[in-house]
Amino acid sequence: MSTQRGRLTRAQRRALDTLLPAYELGAHPFPRQAPLGIEIGFGMGEALEQWALAQPDWNLLGIEIYPSGVGALLNRIAQAGTDNVRVAMDRAEVVLEEQLAAGSVREFRVLFPDPWPKKRHHKRRLLQPAFISMLAERLEPGGALYVATDWAPYAEWALENLSAEPLLMNASQGFSARDDRRLVTKFEARGQRLGHDIFDLCFTRRSETS
Ligand SMILES: C[S@@+](CC[C@H](N)C(=O)[O-])C[C@H]1O[C@@H](n2cnc3c(N)ncnc32)[C@H](O)[C@@H]1O
Repeated sequence: MSTQRGRLTRAQRRALDTLLPAYELGAHPFPRQAPLGIEIGFGMGEALEQWALAQPDWNLLGIEIYPSGVGALLNRIAQAGTDNVRVAMDRAEVVLEEQLAAGSVREFRVLFPDPWPKKRHHKRRLLQPAFISMLAERLEPGGALYVATDWAPYAEWALENLSAEPLLMNASQGFSARDDRRLVTKFEARGQRLGHDIFDLCFTRRSETS
């Protein structure tokens, strides 16, 4: 199963054993009311740590299925001493379905989702129409969904799917300018090394469907 992927370092294993119980959303809800921001598929957690430091007055949730990444994020946030981050180690589809209320999220970030380039694997891509509907429904009116990818066919596919969701509105014409609030993630750096263009998308939740 995909959650078993990758080898854990000793520090990551220790973090999962000792820190995860203290940061897991299910066990420890946020201590205060605040805007909620969510990063889906945070990888090693560098962008989420930076987001937490930049917006200490927000509640932030990281969702990731990759145990090494969760362990790495836990070590980062414990070291940084931030108290505004929670983690869910599960598929985002499940976390949204089971743990997030409609209209409860101010901002989603999906940075460099797995591109699954082969046609027969497209069904594994994260930003499927049904998942986009779920994201849109969990956003507050006016809330935003940011996506970045270095895979041009994925960018076009995501733009098409996002544009087809009636609850969402494109904040730009087509692709957006780079969101400079985000630091260069591991996969963004990899895309740059390979000479790929980087595509940003930003959609906001409409107040009504009309
Ligand atoms: C290509 S990596 C990008 C990681 C990071 N955002 C970056 O830019 O470096 C995609 C990440 O999404 C995670 N992922 C894939 N499907 C997921 C899902 N259904 N729910 C949560 N995370 C998922 C993977 O485990 C992986 O860490």
